[in-house]
Amino acid sequence: MRSPICEMLGIDFPLVAFSHCRDVVAAVSRAGGFGVLGATAFSPHQLERELKWLDEHCGGKGYGVDVLIPENIATKGERNVTISSVAGRIPQRHRDFVRDLLKRYDVELPERPLHTGREEHEGRLNLQEDTVMPLLETAFRHPIRLIANALGVPPQSMLDLGRRHRVPVAALIGAKEHAVRQVQAGVDIIIAEGWEAGGHCSEVSTMVLIPDVIQAIKPIRTVPVLAAGGIANGRQMAACMAMGAAGVWTGSVWLTTSESDVPQILREKMLAATARDTVRSKCRTGKFSRQLKSAWTEAWESPESPGPLPMPYQTILSEPALRAALHSAEHGNEKARELVTYWVGQCVGLTDSVKSSRTVVQEFMEDFAAAVEEMNGWASQ
Ligand SMILES: Cc1cc2nc3c(=O)[nH]c(=O)nc-3n(C[C@H](O)[C@H](O)[C@H](O)COP(=O)(O)O)c2cc1C
Repeated sequence: MRSPICEMLGIDFPLVAFSHCRDVVAAVSRAGGFGVLGATAFSPHQLERELKWLDEHCGGKGYGVDVLIPENIATKGERNVTISSVAGRIPQRHRDFVRDLLKRYDVELPERPLHTGREEHEGRLNLQEDTVMPLLETAFRHPIRLIANALGVPPQSMLDLGRRHRVPVAALIGAKEHAVRQVQAGVDIIIAEGWEAGGHCSEVSTMVLIPDVIQAIKPIRTVPVLAAGGIANGRQMAACMAMGAAGVWTGSVWLTTSESDVPQILREKMLAATARDTVRSKCRTGKFSRQLKSAWTEAWESPESPGPLPMPYQTILSEPALRAALHSAEHGNEKARELVTYWVGQCVGLTDSVKSSRTVVQEFMEDFAAAVEEMNGWASQ
């Protein structure tokens, strides 16, 4: 296949996989899709290690890197923001709410936050231009074929780095107005992410967002659009491309693959979940993001809830608490299982078994071909 995305990324099948896990990224790229590593949780040193590994394990195939520089964040304009430098701004009412909630599930919040290997990021927040820049500089020292930014127009420095290294710059958006601003700013690829998506997501469903965005940007410049949100198989991919998308950008479907490093408890929850078991809530980051429903998400919707704080404070409050809940559940606390949650989209209901990433890519290809053939057959009757 030769969609504009295939040309830009050097691939034959325009299936892009977002993952924080290098093993998924490499497996997808090797199988004929295109893996993108989420870099936000890494320090520059760790990212260097991950990318060196990818250079050695992608079998000569391309991969990309994704960062998150929100345009709207409560610490905007401040420099060198770290978790400890702003943690004191979290109101006591919110701290008490979280501590009491955890206590009801027999979870202790440790004095020093628990870290897993990947989340150990030296107290960094990596959500603003000055702290993300070292990650970008690290990324551009490797043969990346795509750099993507979420939650706003990439800073000029990021666009300039892309130009200088001849690497396409992509941006995730959730509304046509955002897409127009991104195209005017000079991004090369729009990723239109609908309501169904795991992680930060739109108010608008993918089905409506894709044609809306394509129509809005058409008069400005020809920029390929990747459809995102709710896509877990090749038939859905064909549907998105029938609406004019140049390919698809996926996240949730990779979380339960055999290569994924998602903890077992969360994997089990995801395999058992139906499409109705996720919720779009501000309770994890302060911006709307879709995640598994749990006692944690329900508590934030309850009358006792103090209401979520803006980004980045809600992240600083929720991440250590959810890590403590997971740690406790992993050590046999059955009650804590009710609290644990993770970002995942509505397509979690379409996945009920563990498959290798290669198998998922192959099934995407087969289902896509079957859908196109079927529609061609109907059209020619
Ligand atoms: C666990 C998880 C974490 C995510 N983290 C990020 C992130 O750090 N940066 C980003 O651009 N998108 C992130 N996303 C969104 C994905 O890039 C993608 O747009 C989304 O998963 C697509 O919808 P789907 O989950 O229905 O496939 C995340 C998604 C998930 C499921």
